[in-house]
Amino acid sequence: MTPFSTDLPASVPDGVPDSGPRTTDAAWDPRQYAVFSGHRGRPFADLLARVDTDAPELVVDLGCGPGELTLGLAERWPDARIIGVDSSPDMLGRARELDRAGRVEWVEASAEDWDPTGSGASIDVLVTNATLQWVPGHLRLIPSWIESLTPGGIFAMQVPSNFDAPSHRLMREVAARHPRAADLQPGLDRARAVARPETYAALLLDLAPEVDVWQTTYQHVLPAAPDGDPHPVLEWVRGTGLRPVLGVLEADERERFVRDYERELDTAYPRRSFGVLFPFTRTFAVARTPR
Ligand SMILES: C[S@@+](CC[C@H](N)C(=O)[O-])C[C@H]1O[C@@H](n2cnc3c(N)ncnc32)[C@H](O)[C@@H]1O
Repeated sequence: MTPFSTDLPASVPDGVPDSGPRTTDAAWDPRQYAVFSGHRGRPFADLLARVDTDAPELVVDLGCGPGELTLGLAERWPDARIIGVDSSPDMLGRARELDRAGRVEWVEASAEDWDPTGSGASIDVLVTNATLQWVPGHLRLIPSWIESLTPGGIFAMQVPSNFDAPSHRLMREVAARHPRAADLQPGLDRARAVARPETYAALLLDLAPEVDVWQTTYQHVLPAAPDGDPHPVLEWVRGTGLRPVLGVLEADERERFVRDYERELDTAYPRRSFGVLFPFTRTFAVARTPR
């Protein structure tokens, strides 16, 4: 196998930062993240539908979050050893609570530092869902993850690709006119480390003979909260992309930011009789190593 170019520039052509601040400094909130768990679970199911293997021995969920979806892997493959890796102690705490039977091995590690050979066995399925957008150097890491797979092993990833959607564009615009714009910038950059689908396809095709890369735009219908209640798109991004931005502001500054941003969201995503339509594009990639 030819390793993918090891001399990527500091910022690769489609804007994926190759390094940057890690996310472990801004606490994740499992409760906020769970608000739209039904919508967030759908891409995971669509990704796993393309993972065609009957009896894997070792399955890893990298960036496992609060664990519900990882426990779903344990249900699908009851005889497999399942490891959930995440850098957030809060997310792992929730995962341990949910896993009453102690079915999964929960490991606290960042994707950057995690050793894929550390479990003592080769990995049959490595899943990473809605996580690599938080890992700026992931294009460099993917080859070593693929190398750690068994023959015929599967790497399956999904990342959001909606950074030019109004939800994120408006966040950047409100931040740009904020008095502390310079302080907000690193947080805005942090969750954008996503490449174009063709970049993932080229990288993976260099490493594995069977590769499937695709994009889907979901038309999520979010419940329309009555006027005066938080806009549902605000609630959605509060659980993810808005976290590092709000994390640097004081309480009163935060309130003002949220008020300005929500006003823009109300225009971009109107509350209708059926709810709020929230289109969301995601990129998926599945690669299988030679059997
Ligand atoms: C959007 S959540 C996705 C969780 C789960 N995979 C899901 O689909 O519901 C992103 C997760 O990535 C984790 N994460 C962020 N940066 C990480 C890093 N550098 N290494 C490992 N996990 C990270 C967060 O703690 C969070 O649990």
